[in-house]
Amino acid sequence: MVPLKNDRFLRALMGESVDVTPVWMMRQAGRYLPEYRATREKAGDFMSLCQSPELACEVTLQPLRRYAFDAAILFSDILTIPDAMGLGLYFSTGEGPRFRKTVRNQQDVAALPIPDMGSDLKYVTDAVSLIRRELNGSVPLIGFSGSPWTLATYMIEGSGSKDFRHAKALMYNQPEVMHALLDKLASAVTVYLNAQIEAGAQAVQIFDTWGGILTTPAYEAFSLSYMRKIISGLHKESEGRPVPVIVFTKNGGLWLESIAASGANCVGLDWTIEIGQARARIGDKVSLQGNMDPAILYSSPASIRAEVARILESFGSGNGHVFNLGHGITPHVDPDNVSAFVDAVHELSASYHR
Ligand code: CP3
Repeated sequence: MVPLKNDRFLRALMGESVDVTPVWMMRQAGRYLPEYRATREKAGDFMSLCQSPELACEVTLQPLRRYAFDAAILFSDILTIPDAMGLGLYFSTGEGPRFRKTVRNQQDVAALPIPDMGSDLKYVTDAVSLIRRELNGSVPLIGFSGSPWTLATYMIEGSGSKDFRHAKALMYNQPEVMHALLDKLASAVTVYLNAQIEAGAQAVQIFDTWGGILTTPAYEAFSLSYMRKIISGLHKESEGRPVPVIVFTKNGGLWLESIAASGANCVGLDWTIEIGQARARIGDKVSLQGNMDPAILYSSPASIRAEVARILESFGSGNGHVFNLGHGITPHVDPDNVSAFVDAVHELSASYHR
């Protein structure tokens, strides 16, 4: 493998010194970019885009041609695992993800196969290898997965949900069935992330998008404990470097201390928490990623710059900050505003790293 030219993202995740604060964006490849929309048009549908290593590689690289991001993220989706378990994922226009089959009882859970990396999900590891080759050491590549709890919500509901009625009913009525499902998912996610690491992912992020809908004890029992289990089973090193793990629980601000103690190297923050307060609560034990409100990108370059300055000031001097949005970029953002964002992070952060 060629040596990494820009490793500030990996260094910041490990709490090491950097020249400027590294930055990337959740959903950095996506519909706000006209070139993404063109490639997606060519692919036909979203899953064909994910399943073609060449096209997945192309859209992964698109944002890096425009912006000075310090990391690339594999273009794929968290729902590839339930799809590989036979649930039949599809995307109907304007409605988000849907499954042909749902998982609602003990029999459904027992019938779920553990996906095979060598066949069912080979398109993901093939994409990782190809992206690494094309990146040619310019920036590191992030692999990812959904958390078991977040994957379970989609598998049980059969789609996105506002109230998570079926998932929560199953959790409260038959916790043992929910645990059996989460346990299976934790095994699948561990194998999946390790396969991405073996194929060349240099850091991994676990997206726990729906952990924040749980009560405090339910978050511990049904979400965090399975993420902890996954982290303990991940390869700690690859290519002679640590492979840092980022845990992002949306709306997880109440539980920062326990997330920081999960074994993760970095806690992803949404925009509702003040990053300086998060740092004061968990100290320098782990690094922090975040946390600008993605909606700021609808404003002007001047307001974006001011908000970047405010967040850098709130975090303060020292190591362990990866700049990001507090959740994914949305489709209606003007691509020029993203340049203003990325450039502001690099320009304004230098004085915090002297
Ligand atoms: O960050 C990146 O650039 C990597 C790519 C990525 C996608 N999805 C591409 C995508 C990542 C990391 C994800 C994760 C994902 N997928 C999550 C967790 C992160 C989060 O945002 O909370 C979730 C919950 C999903 C499930 C999912 N996939 C939903 C709800 C949707 C529909 C979203 C929408 O706005 O319609 C998807 C589709 C999807 N995944 C798109 C992209 C770029 C849009 C598909 C399109 O082109 O129409």
